[in-house]
Amino acid sequence: MPKRFWTQQKPSKKDPLMTQSLAEMAVEVLTTADGRAKTAISKQHAATWFAAREAGTPLPIGTAQPPLLPARPEQPELLDPRDVPRRKPGSPQGRIAMLHAVAHIELNAVDLHWDIIARFTDVEMPLGFYDDWVKSAAEESNHFNLICDSLEAKDSFYGALPAHAGMWRAAEDTVDDLMGRLAVVPMVLEARGLDVTPGMIRIFENAKDTQTLEALRIIYAEEVGHVAYGSKWFNFLCGRHGLDPKAEFHGLVQKYFHGALKPPFNEEKRADAGLPPDFYWPLADEEPPAYAR
Ligand SMILES: [Fe+2]
Ligand SMILES: [Fe+2]
Repeated sequence: MPKRFWTQQKPSKKDPLMTQSLAEMAVEVLTTADGRAKTAISKQHAATWFAAREAGTPLPIGTAQPPLLPARPEQPELLDPRDVPRRKPGSPQGRIAMLHAVAHIELNAVDLHWDIIARFTDVEMPLGFYDDWVKSAAEESNHFNLICDSLEAKDSFYGALPAHAGMWRAAEDTVDDLMGRLAVVPMVLEARGLDVTPGMIRIFENAKDTQTLEALRIIYAEEVGHVAYGSKWFNFLCGRHGLDPKAEFHGLVQKYFHGALKPPFNEEKRADAGLPPDFYWPLADEEPPAYAR
């Protein structure tokens, strides 16, 4: 019987000559539980992806089955947000609690970026889509490590305090809707990070905590890019399907995001990221200014 030329051998992780696809790499990150181990694999895979891109021999995107929930370390304990204790931001303990919450967000962000890579391989996208999310995942890995370093310099660590259990909900809600995922994760949740980070930077300026300030300034600068990638690919898909981006964004956020958006908004950084006021203001729990209706 003639061998069919399209019959491919299944790649195996044990065979170093077989190239791991990007989707398989993403699943490897998602199924690694320990935070530092997850970010190390994430950065290593990002470096492999970009080395192949630069050499003009991009890795195959492939297909893989991302888990519904990424693997997580045994600690921190995950609690309903109402049960996570609040601490005064002015105290050293309050600042540790704040950094612990940031570390938790960054670890989720690593998984969110690898998840969008592996989850939607059935939607044909340009290689630039993968470049953007691999780069974002590598940056989030760095953010997690920087904040962990800062916690450890204060004799704490990621896992020392309870954390928010609802962080993966946006991913679960948009598990089969790429445009919904883009609308809710980078364009709502990560954009919210742009609103709150300047206030956090002020808190650590007052505390003269240079290590944390350096970390937060890197995070603040790089997060603009993640929101921008979200709006870039959201607009790209609207164009592909002949949809009005603003109306589509409003519909998807109302469908998948639970609750109203909270002003004040960082209008300048949101504009840098390609988010105009009439995208987010009509979804806020306050009357929009005249220019944003
Ligand atoms: Fe981040
Ligand atoms: Fe981000």
